[in-house]
Amino acid sequence: MITETPGRSVVEFIKVTKVYPPDVVALQEVSLSIMRGEMLFLTGRSGAGKTTMLKLMCNIEAPTNGVVEVVGRNLSRVRPAGIQKMRQKIGVAYQDFRLLPKRTTLENIAMAMEVTYQSRQTIRHRVEELLEILGIADKRDRLAGKLSRGEQQRVALARAAANRPPLLLADEPTGNLDAKATEQVATLFNTLNAEGSTIVVATHDESLYRGTNHRVLRLVHGTLIEPAAEKLVDETAPALAYEVMPVTLPEPEETDDIELAGEPDEVFDLDFALDDTAAAGSEEEAP
Ligand SMILES: Nc1ncnc2c1ncn2[C@@H]1O[C@H](COP(=O)(O)OP(=O)(O)O)[C@@H](O)[C@H]1O
Ligand SMILES: [Mg+2]
Repeated sequence: MITETPGRSVVEFIKVTKVYPPDVVALQEVSLSIMRGEMLFLTGRSGAGKTTMLKLMCNIEAPTNGVVEVVGRNLSRVRPAGIQKMRQKIGVAYQDFRLLPKRTTLENIAMAMEVTYQSRQTIRHRVEELLEILGIADKRDRLAGKLSRGEQQRVALARAAANRPPLLLADEPTGNLDAKATEQVATLFNTLNAEGSTIVVATHDESLYRGTNHRVLRLVHGTLIEPAAEKLVDETAPALAYEVMPVTLPEPEETDDIELAGEPDEVFDLDFALDDTAAAGSEEEAP
């Protein structure tokens, strides 16, 4: 069977179900295409599955069922070297920041850039630019562990954005921020997006997406709700005790027969290349 890979999608979820052992259904048959250059908001209450979706996109978690593709590659079939390459192209701002507390703001951000062999001057300039946008220029030489949570959050965002990644994933990026800082984060996203980055923001902060022209999707108990169906969902209803509901999972799908419909086109490949030998051979079985 040949599965068509839409030419311009960066991330593709095909009937993705994620169950955390023993029986927590975090996502149920989620299908979604995220197009290149898109800025997309994933909303929904705490526990709805937002973080899980981001983790699947950067291969921190694997789906229980279904397929997750990034630039047309089925992640479960990409070899570790290919995954590593791919991860360098994805900027992730984690919900829990994951900064090095004994390093300064500058060092935390610069570290993400050093792997790309840019000059110290370029790195420093970029870091200062990001800190300026985010309103924490005066925190450049402070140890990350000594910063407030709101400041740490912005350092994590700056680090994720530092390399102008083709794909940026931000998990609750404004959870610790006031209105002004939230606006600064929105500016950062808009700037990056205008420069071509595809951005996925998981958030329950309505101020971040209110009035936006970008796609806003909602997860309700692990199910993705189409915007048109919004009104049919009563979110004020008591939350289902879905963590403990007995679940009948579909039989594992045979994903081995999924083939690429073709190589990503060249322009795309330049921006988001999985182009070394490890990645190029990623669809083959290891010898
Ligand atoms: N590692 C894990 N082990 C077990 N359950 C988990 C794990 N991570 C998340 N969950 C559960 O999966 C569901 C979705 O979580 P999550 O994706 O973090 O939602 P959100 O980010 O929308 O708050 C929740 O019920 C959560 O408790
Ligand atoms: Mg979360």
